Amino acid sequence: MSFPYSPTQAYPPPQAQQPTPVVMPSGAQRPRLTFIGTGYLGATYAICFAELGYEVLGVDVDEAKIAKLAAGEVPIHEPGLDELLRRNLAAGRLRFSTDYREAADFGDVHFICVGTPQRPDGMSADLSYVETAVTSLVPHLTRKALIVGKSTVPVGTAEWVEQLVGKHAPAELGVEVAWSPEFLQEGFAVEDVLRPNRLVLGLKSAWAHSMLFAAHKGVFELAVNEDREVPVVVTDFATAELVKVAANAFLATKISFINAMAEVCEASGADVSQLARAIGYDDRIGKKFLRAGVGFGGGCLPKDIRSFQARAQELGAGEALRFLHEVDLINQRRRGRVVQLAAELLGRPYGPAGPDLSGMRIAVLGATFKPNTDDVRDSPAIAVARKLARTGAQVGVYDPQGMENAKRDLPEVSYAQSMTDVVRDADLVCVLTAWEEFRYADPNVLGALVNGKRVIDGLNCLDQPLWTAAGWEFRGMGRPNP
Ligand code: UDX
Repeated sequence: MSFPYSPTQAYPPPQAQQPTPVVMPSGAQRPRLTFIGTGYLGATYAICFAELGYEVLGVDVDEAKIAKLAAGEVPIHEPGLDELLRRNLAAGRLRFSTDYREAADFGDVHFICVGTPQRPDGMSADLSYVETAVTSLVPHLTRKALIVGKSTVPVGTAEWVEQLVGKHAPAELGVEVAWSPEFLQEGFAVEDVLRPNRLVLGLKSAWAHSMLFAAHKGVFELAVNEDREVPVVVTDFATAELVKVAANAFLATKISFINAMAEVCEASGADVSQLARAIGYDDRIGKKFLRAGVGFGGGCLPKDIRSFQARAQELGAGEALRFLHEVDLINQRRRGRVVQLAAELLGRPYGPAGPDLSGMRIAVLGATFKPNTDDVRDSPAIAVARKLARTGAQVGVYDPQGMENAKRDLPEVSYAQSMTDVVRDADLVCVLTAWEEFRYADPNVLGALVNGKRVIDGLNCLDQPLWTAAGWEFRGMGRPNP
């Protein structure tokens, strides 16, 4: 890299080591920020950066979404976000628009936050939204700006975006590109944006460094006020892009590792929960992300490990990531395990085509891929409910937040209004999302409603002795039968 920088340090660094302040192209005191794509990522970032005091414009082609946000309504369920949206709209720092020209006029730093879903024809990521966002924005620019990628992308994308910018932006402006992946977890997104555990800045020039520093100053100031430091890694494009997918591949591998151990525990009579606890005391291993269950889902981990493999293959490094295929397979197998347990509990034989559970009523508690979200993308709960429905069973689903999304994804089951409604007369109850409402449900109360007291704890999140004491036949994941 051709300018002095510290590859890794806690920010804000001492004054002398801070990037040289630059004048904002718009003439504003602080950089004006746009967030292009107001889905989960972009909406959260736009709202939180307004909260940090920046002037922010959220941009999307979806008029309905923009109208909702502008009216103070968050289109997703994310704790804390509604209040921040309304507060910052009222303060006049936050606006939303569908107009790229307005975005180009307004912004100094433009964050690309559009989705990069798995392509329907393979494992790789669909970059068409990134392409559209960039080529819709940059022709309208009339002064220098920094385009910052936040979307999760295959390594090499930032270079390609730089070429796109070179082709479509007026050449004399010197528009630059940087890449800064996000690491937010649904359910904790506000915290993760305001108080990130690290920032990764992939960049090529001292100007981009100064602009990104200015665009994150609010994050550093908050940290200083709270006596914290924010670790920052300043690096090249390729490393910044890889950090994100490598982190998600590691997390997915950790979950599949413990789920593989669950399979061995099932075969040997051991208890994976105790095993996880015992290995987690070794802080080289750590206790987080070792919860065995129905496996990982969501909009990130499953698609990221697939597109990572596809990209590595293209680069001739496919062999290096072959293990991720196993990680995926272990994850899929856990979903089938619930069906096996259902057949076992209901006393139905498990044939080559799976069990026949016709005539049985199964209550599924949970539809979202994890609690505190309404997101059902690649949700293990939905996948298991679908498999159960295919056995001929009558499946009813209840979720505190995910019902609307679930109905779209899984129309072939019935939906109940509440937990007590869904379990009424059920022959089997499956807990497939670890919502507090389910974890702390009273097994005596539910026991009085069901037809048969049989429960599968797909997340190992229930108090097993309490349920067995209330007379339930209980099955966990990777745990011996009580
Ligand atoms: C993940 C990453 O954590 C985040 O850093 C990245 O930016 C986006 O992807 P998220 O998809 O919100 O975030 O969910 P996360 O909390 O990581 O959980 C992913 C899945 O793994 C969920 O289905 C969860 O239930 C499952 N999981 C998690 C387990 O099965 N066991 C565990 O021990 C932990």
